[in-house]
Amino acid sequence: MVSRQPFYFGVDYYPEQWPEDRWATDAQWMAEAGFNLARLGEFAWVKMEPVEGRFDFSWLERAIATLSAHGLRVMLGTPTAAPPAWLATDHPGIFRVRKDGVRVAYGNRRGYCPTSREYRAATERIVGALAAHFAGHPALAAWQVDNEFGGLCYCSSCARSFHAWLEQRYGTLEELNRRWGTAFWGQVYDRWDEIPLPLDAGSAPNPGLALDYYRFSSAAYREYQQLQISLLRHFCPDVPILHNFQGGFDQEELNFFELAQPLDVAAWNNYPRTQWDMRAEVDANRMALSLDLMRGLKRAPFWITEQQAGPGGWEMVSVPPRPGELRLWAYQTIAHGAEAVLFFRWRTARFGTEQYWHGLLDHDGSRSRRYHEIQQMGREIARIRERLTGLETHARVAMLMSYDSRFAFNVQGNNPGFSYPHHFARIYNSFHARNVAVDVLPPEANLEGYQLVVAPSLHVLPEEIARNLRNYVRSGGILMVTMRSGVKNEFNAVVDERLPGLLADVCGVTVEEYDSLPPDAHNQLDFISPELAGAQVETSNWADILEPRGAVVVARYTRDYYAGKPAITLNHYGAGFAVYVGTDGDERLYNRLSDWLLDLAGVEPVLSAPPGVEICERCRGGTRLLFVLNHNHSVQQVELDGSYKDLLNGERLRGQVTVGALDVRVMEQEY
Ligand code: GLA
Ligand code: ZN
Repeated sequence: MVSRQPFYFGVDYYPEQWPEDRWATDAQWMAEAGFNLARLGEFAWVKMEPVEGRFDFSWLERAIATLSAHGLRVMLGTPTAAPPAWLATDHPGIFRVRKDGVRVAYGNRRGYCPTSREYRAATERIVGALAAHFAGHPALAAWQVDNEFGGLCYCSSCARSFHAWLEQRYGTLEELNRRWGTAFWGQVYDRWDEIPLPLDAGSAPNPGLALDYYRFSSAAYREYQQLQISLLRHFCPDVPILHNFQGGFDQEELNFFELAQPLDVAAWNNYPRTQWDMRAEVDANRMALSLDLMRGLKRAPFWITEQQAGPGGWEMVSVPPRPGELRLWAYQTIAHGAEAVLFFRWRTARFGTEQYWHGLLDHDGSRSRRYHEIQQMGREIARIRERLTGLETHARVAMLMSYDSRFAFNVQGNNPGFSYPHHFARIYNSFHARNVAVDVLPPEANLEGYQLVVAPSLHVLPEEIARNLRNYVRSGGILMVTMRSGVKNEFNAVVDERLPGLLADVCGVTVEEYDSLPPDAHNQLDFISPELAGAQVETSNWADILEPRGAVVVARYTRDYYAGKPAITLNHYGAGFAVYVGTDGDERLYNRLSDWLLDLAGVEPVLSAPPGVEICERCRGGTRLLFVLNHNHSVQQVELDGSYKDLLNGERLRGQVTVGALDVRVMEQEY
């Protein structure tokens, strides 16, 4: 049984990169920052196994002892993201092959192939030795498996594994040929080993093959992860096991819902400012969406294993976090469900690719203004630590994120201006920016208790998910689905019914025709539903021309040959309603729709607040905490709905309160 953990506040530490006589100072300054956890080891394979089969954990023990002496516990990373040079040299086949046939070179992290037998054997050896060595260690608080899974591989080992996976899934080649529709261009397969990988053949691959390759890749990483989990559980049955997911909502290749399943806790690495995003303003909605996805992975609190500690960069230096931002962003993660926040990294590296990925200490080892900002937060955390675990977000709105649909759109984007993640994020923002909590869940999730469920472009729609949505609406739920939903079956073949296929009955509508719009073209909506009347909103990218089959028309197009035809409909089904939105648009469209739907569903914002002021509610028993996060560079006012105590400074609050620029209030309601 995995034990319950306190709230952890800490840092990612690489003692192997610094002289040992410095460690005690580091540990002392960590303690002075209020840290109680350090993550170590995830890139130190060569230090742990300098020669094949010969292990040395003594340096790690000494580092842990130094940290323990200053009251810190440790999270150990299994070091498999960064193989030693001897392993790479002796077994060059462990590296992934890219789509263009080129093998990934040694020198980065995360270069290995998840199905490589040699890599799996080496993994079991190091993880087994590490877990056995530290089993029962009193300072060991958690395990992190590997580091940031990701990267699809197209090597011959993966091809063999893919064939075995397909055989398992389809049973016979006849079934596979039928499901994929291999009669097209004569791609019929007669032997499993004839099945190609979805490489560049001069045209898009068979959509069934391409989607299955994504699924197979997630399964391959899951199997690789399981090798490690089994060993860690065996030696350390009561230590929680995590993986730090890369990219959050932005990640495109792996099904995080599936990978998170066997883990005890999901974790994310959060970098709002990087060299790849040099905008002056940080989009707080974007971070919020990833955080809500993390909470949705296991429908539970999660950890932040890497929280930005300074400018991040490899070749370039990112825009440095402005004073207040590091603390604000870290509180935002807690507001959305983090039960641990570790900053990446402690001291800025002097060597290696990440010389400009700044930590809390500068290159010269001195404490930066960033350290002092986080130290302030450390003092605050020490005061409220007990209150920060076991909290729940009671979201009334769920958004369904389908990795299968996302993968299918990666293969066939449908319209050059349309992007599933952008479409999803715009709808999400229309709720989140109003301070309405959203759970981000897989489409097969139990939807009981939600007042509003939104399924953007649920493109790949197996019968089981259609049933889930139908049952939800039948029993009184309000569902919104958007264009390109219900187009594909689970084999990524287009359905044999009129669109939206399996959702036509619940939505009471069919798609008679569709228009794929050029990049700069727009149509316009005329809302005829009384609650929305008068509004005129532009649409873009896509236009489903709808034929109501029982639904009432909410909005019509005003332009082109389908002017006057329905674009949005509302259907009464069972005890609930289903809204079909046949077109895409910018925030004006989704803001309008979300106002209307929240009203229809009776969902209220936590509190209303000026733009850029985010308010999240977290509850435990009778305790109600509000996190008020001001992402603006100016002071803002918020009108409270009762009496609160500011837990960070002890102030009693009611009526109108101010929140400083890039500042935070954590308030507990008083009854
Ligand atoms: C990821 C990795 C870290 C580090 C940071 C910064 O999150 O997990 O080891 O490389 O990115 O690039
Ligand atoms: Zn491979």
